[in-house]
Order: sequence, then structure tokens, then C-alpha cells
Amino acid sequence: MTDTRGEPPPATTNLGDPMDLAATLSELRARATTEAAAASSPEALGAVEADLVGPRSPIAELRRGLGSLDPSERAAAGRAIQEAAAAIQETIAGRRDELEAAARAARIAAEAIDVTLDYRTLRVGGLHLIQQVIDEVSEIFVGLGYKVAEGPEAELSWYNFDALNTPPDHPGRLESDTMYLDYGSAEDEMLLRAHTSPIQARYMEQHPPPVYIVAPGKAYRNDTIDATHLPVFHQIEGLAVDEAITFSDLKGTLAEFARQYFGPKTKVRMRPHYFPFTEPSAELDVSCFNCDGGSSACRVCKGKGWLEMLGCGMVDPNVFVAVGYDPDQVSGFAFGVGVERLAMARHGIENMRMFIENDLRFLTQFPG
Ligand code: PHE
Repeated sequence: MTDTRGEPPPATTNLGDPMDLAATLSELRARATTEAAAASSPEALGAVEADLVGPRSPIAELRRGLGSLDPSERAAAGRAIQEAAAAIQETIAGRRDELEAAARAARIAAEAIDVTLDYRTLRVGGLHLIQQVIDEVSEIFVGLGYKVAEGPEAELSWYNFDALNTPPDHPGRLESDTMYLDYGSAEDEMLLRAHTSPIQARYMEQHPPPVYIVAPGKAYRNDTIDATHLPVFHQIEGLAVDEAITFSDLKGTLAEFARQYFGPKTKVRMRPHYFPFTEPSAELDVSCFNCDGGSSACRVCKGKGWLEMLGCGMVDPNVFVAVGYDPDQVSGFAFGVGVERLAMARHGIENMRMFIENDLRFLTQFPG
């Protein structure tokens, strides 16, 4: 297609000859159709418009020629020119609409936000279930008037064993049970504490009675990982020392703790046990919160109706002597509870490994 823009009207157009005029006008309309379609911008389209219907266009030229026509021919010729001009304007307006729509679509595409993109790169974390249980148990005891204490994980044999009335031949001292850091006498031999009980001795050494503390922390034992053992686990120690603390105080305190942690209907029972640092010693069971102590199909207590929960007892007088307390002036109770066990019992978790696998499918079930 040849570019005919800017060409003068056919000099030969005879305005007085309707056939000749019609041919010229239809040629201009055809040019409008092709040139408007070829214009790819509003500016280009403006140029087409000026060429065809502007003041120096063929249409304007034809209009100017009307004046020299015989009045009898003028009306028909004028109408024909007018019609053609209107049709050309319409073609150009249509193309202008098209160009504007395309520009709008391009702008929308350029500004569009892809809502399928995952923009949430910052996920909110949460406390590990173990820490949640530590916090919750600590708060229960703070509510009963206890303070929270801590102690070192790398511990002297003295605090882990000797101060706690543990005899030199106690099996817990064997390397098959306890992880040693440095060998030596009781005063300089170092190990990773096997329980949180050394915090009892350290705290009493530093504070005169009365003492009401809970002490959460890690404990280490030379165990192979399985569904119920981890070499690194968590305990919460409890110690109450005052002028006339009795075994009833121990049982009442633990019963209150069990009701607050497992629910108001929870019952407790005690079975005789042995720990070097308490006398008498006991293990505390809580009634199964899942089956209420009754169902043989219960997967939490395996039909036993009771869950073994913790070790406890009345502080042995030898422990008081080791830390400088007078066993004739004070008495007390102590207990140590496994945090993993508390979490497993309440949530029906059957494998201890889940606490250390960092599987988000597990962790996110306890958002905290
Ligand atoms: N330390 C004991 C254990 O780890 C638990 C315990 C603490 C028992 C305090 C009696 C008193 O098994």
C-alpha cells in the first residue's frame, strides 16, 4: 500500500459532476480506513486526521470549491462532502478509542500485582512446646508463692551427687549413666548435671530458710535416643523448706499443681520409692485426664488409669547438713518432674523424638 498522506486532491475533481465527486470522496474514505488502522499512536492518528479533514486537507479544499458552484449543484455536493467528512471523523474516532483502550490495558498490565506470589516471607515463630510447659508450670508455682531459680548445666560432682547424700557407689555415678567433663575429687570433678536437684543444694547454700523455689532446666544422661529417652531432656525441680513442712504439705502442693496442669478433676496417688536425697521418698501418679482413670482402650495411660508423673520426698537431713542448714530447725520437701513427660501426657505425644526433630508439622500444632 502506498502512502498517500499529504497528497493534494485530484486536481481534476469536478465538483459539479456528482460521479467525479463521489469517486474522490470514496477514495478519501478508503484512505481514512487504511491510514487510521496503520496509526499506532494518538500522535500518528492526529496527523492522519489533519491530512484528511484538517484546514489544509483535501476535504477543506473541496469545501472551499463549493463557493464557485452553481447554487443548484451546491447543496448536493455540500451534503456529499459533509457525509464523507463525518464518515472519516467516525473512522478516526473509532481508531482513537482502540488506541486508548490498548494503552489502558497496557498500563493495567504493567501496574498489576500478582496476588499469587507468596509475599509472606516473614513467618511469626513461637515458643517450643517444652518452653511453654516450663513457663506454665513455673507460673502455677509462682501463683503458690514460689520463686524461680536456675543453676549451671556443667556441674560439680559435689552438687550433683555428694551434697545430695548420694553414696560413692551409687550406680548413677557410673559413666554408663552420667556424662563426665573432667575427672577428679568431688570438689573439682565436672559433669553434665544428671538432674536439676543440684540447684536445690546451690540455692540453700546461698539463701537462708525459708525457701520456696522451682528450678527448670536441662538434664543430661548417657541414654540412647528412643521413644521415651533423650540424652538431653528437661526437668523442673521444686523445693520448699520452712519450719514445719510435712509430707501432707508435699501431697497437697502436688495435688494442687496436678489439678491446675491437668484439670480440676485430677486425682493423685503416691507410691513409695527411693531417692538418696529424700526420706521418705515417693513417686506421684496422676489420674489419667484422658479416660478419667477408667478405659482399657485409652491410648494415653494404656488402660492403667494412672500416669507416672514425678519423684518427690521429704528433704533428707544429710542434705540440710551439707548446705549448712540445721535439720533440727527446718524441714522441707522436694520434687523433680520431667517436662517432656508432662507435655507427652497432656497432648498424647507418643514419641519423645518429636521434641528434637524440629518438624514444623509437629511444632506448629502448639503455637503457644
Ligand atoms: N532428681 C530426681 C530424678 O531426677 C527427682 C527428684 C527430685 C526426686 C527431688 C526427689 C526429689 O529422678
